[in-house]
Parts: sequence; structure tokens; C-alpha cells
Amino acid sequence: MTIRALLLASTISLFSLVHAGSFETKAQLGEALFFETSLSGNRTQACATCHMPAVAFTDARPNQFDRAVSIGADGTTHGRRHTPTLSYIGQTPTFHLNDEGLYAGGFFYDGRAHDLPAQADGPIFSPLEMALASPVVLLDRIKENGPYAGAIERLFGSDVLTQPSRLVTAVAESLAAFQRSDAFSPFNSKYDRFLRGEADLTRLEEHGRLLFFSTLINCHSCHQLDHPTQETFTDYTYHNIGTPQNLSVNQADFGLAENPIVQGPQHEGKFRIPTLRNIAITAPYMHNGVFRELETVLRFYNKYVMQAPTNPETGFPWGDPEVAENISLDLLRRGQPLDEYRIESLIAFLKTLTDEQFEHLLD
Ligand code: HEC
Ligand code: HEC
Repeated sequence: MTIRALLLASTISLFSLVHAGSFETKAQLGEALFFETSLSGNRTQACATCHMPAVAFTDARPNQFDRAVSIGADGTTHGRRHTPTLSYIGQTPTFHLNDEGLYAGGFFYDGRAHDLPAQADGPIFSPLEMALASPVVLLDRIKENGPYAGAIERLFGSDVLTQPSRLVTAVAESLAAFQRSDAFSPFNSKYDRFLRGEADLTRLEEHGRLLFFSTLINCHSCHQLDHPTQETFTDYTYHNIGTPQNLSVNQADFGLAENPIVQGPQHEGKFRIPTLRNIAITAPYMHNGVFRELETVLRFYNKYVMQAPTNPETGFPWGDPEVAENISLDLLRRGQPLDEYRIESLIAFLKTLTDEQFEHLLD
């Protein structure tokens, strides 16, 4: 069996274990909990409702906001940020200051959750999302389910089921273990297969690849981790690229500045650079879902290097940035404009970053 086939097989077997009822590892328990609607107040919503495994862990449910934001368990409330893919989420480092003194890593668009377990109780107890009332209610819900209760005692110790706060940690750690598994980071896209010598890129894809990593245009200064075999297409630092307000859903979003451990107006409007893996199938784009097409994102970058007055989706000028300060103009102005052929090539390349199990979703 090739590595690729092994990875794919392990992905499939992980997902088919969901209702098996025996949870030998934290990741197996976390997998079941990821799909568990009784973790929401009214038992209608699971993590998988918004992070659907079949669509690269994004929310494909249609709604009145063109899916720019997701609807919570109550059927009406919504936040102001687009549900991100959880693809390759296990590769994201914890929130830290890097060698250059820049904030990097962390979870949520503003890094306010230090690590992956710290992220999980956010959605469970958020009134905008799963809206479970309290850790005590979580304890009741877990105790309702014999296999969960048994597995938690076995994996985390027998006293966990008497202490709601420790139970929250156990649930969060289980969900994190699942999200760190290969099912989320299969490294089996055409691009990975190409790196392993198992696939050839077309001329257009290859042109897009060379362009993406070249200094002619400047994607790589932000969207390159520089890992030789497991590139995630982000260095996990925070930048403001002047994303326009999405007038249909929200007001300005101050991004990193809303992270409680980051203070100062110099951080407003900055968001953690997103991965570009599975990007072709995870529209709409940006933290506020303001762009529907990948092509629009690319044309938007042109605004910094040429006259690019209109947004092709609206026919109007690009809207005002949510935050006009702190835009990384030095980096954004460094590249050459993207002409039609460059746009076409880059899109062809970005499509090769689609995991094998999602390739059927590409047009
Ligand atoms: C109502 C839809 C919804 C539900 C349900 C939901 N999420 Fe999310 N998730 C979001 C949104 C929106 C964000 C971005 C929020 C932000 O950055 O402020 C997010 C962000 C995340 C992130 C951070 C991703 C990153 O790149 O940093 C992780 C991890 C995550 N969710 C996991 C989960 C888990 C685990 C559950 C179940 C316990 C869950 N989500 C339930 C909508 C949802
Ligand atoms: C200065 C750093 C920087 C540069 C240079 C840059 N990006 Fe980005 N990119 C970001 C940040 C930050 C975001 C998220 C912005 C937001 O959500 O408001 C982003 C978002 C994106 C998205 C949408 C991701 C999503 O999930 O919604 C795509 C696609 C993208 N960039 C591709 C590119 C390409 C292609 C290039 C080169 C032409 C490029 N970027 C150059 C920082 C950068």
C-alpha cells in the first residue's frame, strides 16, 4: 500500500468509527463528540453542523447571508465571522511571539484561544453557537450516554465525572485530539502527490506554482510556512490586508486587537493568515465572508499594485477596509499586478491544494 492509500484508508476508518460505541483513544471519543448534537442547548447542533467533514469542515448550509456567517443552534442568531475550514488545524502552533517579535499561531481568526483545547469550550457555551447553558449541563448530557461516561472515566480518571470544570477539559482535549488526527491533515492533495513524485501538474498548474512561490508576486511572504513536505500555506502571523466590510452582516471587526492578551491600536484589523489548503472549495472568503469567488480575492490584491477600481462581484469600487490603519502595505505593494493569465494559473495551482477526498467538489 502506498502512503497515500494508507492515509486515505485511515481517514475513512476514522470517520466510520463514529457510532461504534467503543472509544479506545481520546481521538476516537473526540470524533464521536464532534458529531454529538446533545452538546448543544437544544440538541440540534454539533461541531460538524458548521464544520462539515464532507466539505473540508466548513458550513455548506444555505442561509440568507450567502453563508458568510453561520446560524447558531437557536436557528436565528449568528456571529460576524465566516466559519473557517478546520483542514490542517492540527498544524497550527499555539499562540506565541515569534523570533521577529510578531504574534503568531493561536486559534480563531484573532488567536484568542491559546491552543486547540482552549478553543473547544468557546462554541459549546457560546450563545451564538451551540448555547449549552453551563458545565453542569454538560455533565448531565455526558452522563446520559453510558459509552461516553465510561470512556471519559477510563481515559481521564474516575473523578472527572464529579467535577464539571475537569469534564470540560476532558471534552475539549478529546475534541482537540480528534482535530489533530490525520483525518484533518491528510496531505494527499494533487500538490502533495506531485511533491512525492506521484502526480504531474498541468502546464497551467505548474505556471501557477512557480508564480505563487516567486518574488514576482508576493503571496509567499505571508502564505508560506516553508516546511519541505507539509506546507500549510500560512506562516500563522497576523496582518491587516484591508478586507472590505461585509455590509450585509457586520460592522468593523478589530481582529487581533480583540484578543485579550494583545493590547494596543497597532493590532487592529489584523487576522491570522489563513491556510490555502482546500481553498477552492471553502468559499466564501475572508474572515467576514465578503468575497464569493476565489478569483475576486486575487483581483482584490491587484488593488495594491495597479488601478483596480471595481469589485467584479458588485460592479462597485472595492469597499472601505474594515480597519484603514495597520495595513501591511510594504508587503502588499511588493508584487507585480496579476494579469488574466496569472490569475488563471494561480487558480489552477490553488485547486491542486484540494485534498483527494474533496476533489470531486471541484468544477
Ligand atoms: C454555529 C457554527 C459553529 C459551530 C456549531 C462550531 N463552530 Fe467552530 N467556528 C465557527 C466560527 C464562526 C469560527 C470563527 C470564530 C472566530 O474566529 O471568532 C469557528 C472557529 C473554530 C476553530 C478555530 C479555527 C482556526 O483556524 O483557528 C476551531 C478549531 C473550531 N471552530 C472548532 C469547533 C469545535 C470543536 C466545535 C464543537 C465543539 C465547533 N467549532 C462548533 C463556527 C462554528
Ligand atoms: C501581507 C500578507 C499577505 C499577502 C502578501 C497575501 N496574503 Fe492572502 N491573506 C492574508 C490574510 C491576513 C488573509 C485573511 C484576511 C481576512 O480574513 O480579512 C488572507 C486571505 C487570503 C485568501 C482567502 C482565504 C480564506 O480562507 O478566506 C486567499 C485565497 C489568499 N489570501 C490568497 C493570496 C494570494 C494568492 C496571494 C498572492 C497574490 C496573497 N494571498 C498574498 C495575508 C496575505
